Amino acid sequence: MTSQNTTAEATKDEFVNDLEWARAEDRKDELAKYRKEFLIPKTKDGKDFIYMAGNSLGLQPKNVREYIGQELDDWAVHGVEGHWDAKHPWLPYHENLTEMAARLVGAKPIEVVIMNTLTVNLHLMMVSFYRPTKERYKIIIEACAFPSDRYAVDSQAEFHGFDAKDAIVALEPREGEFTLRHEDILAAIEREGESLALVMLGNVNYLTGQAFNMKELAAKAHSVGANAGFNLAHGAGNLHLKLHDDNVDFAVWCSYKYLNSGPGSLAGCFVHERHANDSSLPRLAGWWGHNKKTRFKMGPEFDPISGAEGWQLSNPPIFQLAALRASMELFDKAGMAAIRAKSDRMTAYLEFLLEKIPSKFLKVITPKSITERGSQLSLKLGSVPKDFVKILRESGVICDFREPDIVRAAPAPLYNSFEDVYQFVKIVGKQIG
Ligand SMILES: Cc1ncc(COP(=O)(O)O)c(C=O)c1O
Repeated sequence: MTSQNTTAEATKDEFVNDLEWARAEDRKDELAKYRKEFLIPKTKDGKDFIYMAGNSLGLQPKNVREYIGQELDDWAVHGVEGHWDAKHPWLPYHENLTEMAARLVGAKPIEVVIMNTLTVNLHLMMVSFYRPTKERYKIIIEACAFPSDRYAVDSQAEFHGFDAKDAIVALEPREGEFTLRHEDILAAIEREGESLALVMLGNVNYLTGQAFNMKELAAKAHSVGANAGFNLAHGAGNLHLKLHDDNVDFAVWCSYKYLNSGPGSLAGCFVHERHANDSSLPRLAGWWGHNKKTRFKMGPEFDPISGAEGWQLSNPPIFQLAALRASMELFDKAGMAAIRAKSDRMTAYLEFLLEKIPSKFLKVITPKSITERGSQLSLKLGSVPKDFVKILRESGVICDFREPDIVRAAPAPLYNSFEDVYQFVKIVGKQIG
């Protein structure tokens, strides 16, 4: 951790607060060519917006229209027979994404599936991996978890007859701090010990941008007899993940943020290989999780597919899968190692420039260490000019604002440039400096 941190600090010595320097950096950038693969929203004057909201909704890859168009054409030509005769037959369509998804999150193909939406997958996973007893029933989560995650864990505890106020252990940062300390999470797991059933954290917290060390947290959870699951909504397509090696029990992610598959689009799900054939795990079942060889025999007895695919419920929406395939192909071509390397450098440049804004209120609450963050920096503004987001928008910036005073900025390596980062900070600085 220390050596990587030092590397980030050393990198900062090369940075220059200058537009020409940022442009020169873009000319050297091997991923810069991917920007033209995306549709960048335009200002009234026809200029590209500085889009810093890829952690909220990623931009549309240009080839999405063609990929969905192919399925519309195949539907028009083949009707139901498109399930077999489409250029990319619909029956096994989700399998086109399996290997790319596995590479994206550091998993084996048997461990991943694209299905449903995020909170749905979180519930399905908790049906299998949150099996509370009278003695062991607690769930650890961040106090500032995304509300849907909190509602999901609370409702699971209550579904099993527990009082969520007792069953949910919501971890708060220390007094005066904004993010959780790794050692405090480990200590909480140790403290809850035999009463702990599940650790369920966002692997990058949506609000603070803090990334957690999943490997150590999973090992600690397992050491007290609990399961470990993570929500990768802000991690998939952002961090260079190694879910299999990290030995987490399950993970879920959406694909509309860093993965650019469109609003409300499909989600991913990881189930560790060691659970692939565990018939003792209860699950909610549907026909798409049934043995592919006998699915169309239409029998009453459920025979789950080995691995993550066995948790599928329904036949999936092909247009959404097509949109996701278009984007995932770009990720697969660029590779997460290169994406992450650019992200580290661009985010460090963003931090370097923000530190130059002469504001006594502005505070970046995201951890400084590159092992504890991805693309997102969360800026706590202290005092917010009225209509702040509107003013930024009128100045050509789209970014995300969370009450009462947090701006989340996330340069996305496939379509943001160093120049975007430079211009973003210049515009923000004008408002709060
Ligand atoms: C961490 C996290 N959890 C849950 C959700 C809810 O996702 P969905 O509406 O796709 O279920 C989001 C959406 O932004 C999120 O960021």
